[in-house]
Amino acid sequence: MDNRSRTQVAIVGAGPAGLLLAHLLRRSGIESVVLENRSRSYAEARIRAGILEQGSVDVLRAAGLGDRLNREGMRHGGIYLQHGERRTHLDFEAGCGRSVWVYGQTEVVKDLIAAADADGQRIDWEISGDALHDVDTDAPYVTYRDSDGASCRVDAAVIAGTDGFHGISRPAIPEARRSVLEKEYPYAWLGILAETAPATDDLIYSRNKRGFALYSMRSREVSRLYLQVPAGEKVDAWSDDRIWDELARRFAYDGWSLNTGPVIDKSVLPMRSFVSAPMRHGNLVLAGDSAHIVPPTGAKGLNLAISDVVLLARALHAKFTANDDRLIDSYPSDAAARLWRATHFSYWMTTMMHVSDDAFTNELQASQLRYVMGSEIAQASLAENYTGMPY
Ligand code: FAD
Ligand code: DHB
Repeated sequence: MDNRSRTQVAIVGAGPAGLLLAHLLRRSGIESVVLENRSRSYAEARIRAGILEQGSVDVLRAAGLGDRLNREGMRHGGIYLQHGERRTHLDFEAGCGRSVWVYGQTEVVKDLIAAADADGQRIDWEISGDALHDVDTDAPYVTYRDSDGASCRVDAAVIAGTDGFHGISRPAIPEARRSVLEKEYPYAWLGILAETAPATDDLIYSRNKRGFALYSMRSREVSRLYLQVPAGEKVDAWSDDRIWDELARRFAYDGWSLNTGPVIDKSVLPMRSFVSAPMRHGNLVLAGDSAHIVPPTGAKGLNLAISDVVLLARALHAKFTANDDRLIDSYPSDAAARLWRATHFSYWMTTMMHVSDDAFTNELQASQLRYVMGSEIAQASLAENYTGMPY
């Protein structure tokens, strides 16, 4: 072993979950080392989620991460629901008194990395061949090669697996101890980022007989748009002209038109609901996408990663500062309660807004959307879930 070190918490994965966990732990005097297999520039450029719940914004502000969010984040008090050529504004403030913020995950990650730099947080970027060892003992450790190829070992009291869906942490829990509940959807999203001013004040979720479309944004100059496409669709099948033409049809609304512009990013996002339990095995704890995935329609993925980490940071604080394991013992069930609410809401929004090949399902979903668009009570429930249940 070329390099050996010890820390309190070894954090595997520098996505929003891992970086925020390191940040919250630092603020309560707990030391951690973050290990990430991609480069810093890759992590800072990755385009993903865009909506922060009220609770997530409150957490980031309270953790000293609110400066740029307050200046550049865009507060949204509602969304539009569109069905065919009917469009209704749904007012979150009226429904539940809360809001959401448009502030890209990319920006959250950049802010977290800047704060880590300022505090001297150790993050080992571009590691390879990492493996978790002895996670069910009191002396777990991680081995890997650093970016120069040196063999390294980090010993820790706790390993936090925040390495996303394809990481090594979830598989480190023996298969016999793990259960997975999942649902695949027959569609995916084609997402684009375009250099054009959003043609709407609030996000538009549109169900059209040609398929679902979502109009979102990243700033006053950059729009983010999504189209329902069949699962397994290839990005090459979609020229920029075809995308704009399809978006225009799916958002068609009297007297309104899209703004088009240069497409600067294009990708296909698969969709699934996936919940793995337990989120703790011995001294290995999971948070974020390493333990669960939701389809993006309810904008919950990033927010769930943040809420897991808030619960986990509190639990580790009690463990390390007061030798109190009660919160770490209840972490899996505390996180699961919130997770299943978001899993249901994401499933519900997804099926209501997407077009299915099954005629009976389609009629039910269209009926559900007509009901929500016409009922203040249903809208208040959507608003409560979309803006995030209180912690
Ligand atoms: P991640 O962001 O996946 O971070 C995991 C980190 O671990 C990554 O940096 C990865 O490189 C690293 N890693 C992986 N394996 C290892 C290893 N072996 N060792 C060390 N490091 C490792 N949600 C929404 O709400 N709306 C959206 O529009 C949306 N778009 C998305 C688009 C894509 C392409 C994807 C994949 C997800 C999207 N999501 C979206 C979901 C949302 O981005 C995630 O829920 C969120 O990123 C979860 O954060 P995380 O930190 O748990 O995981
Ligand atoms: C965005 C993504 C979502 O999944 C969503 O429901 C709303 C907005 C976005 O990327 O902006």
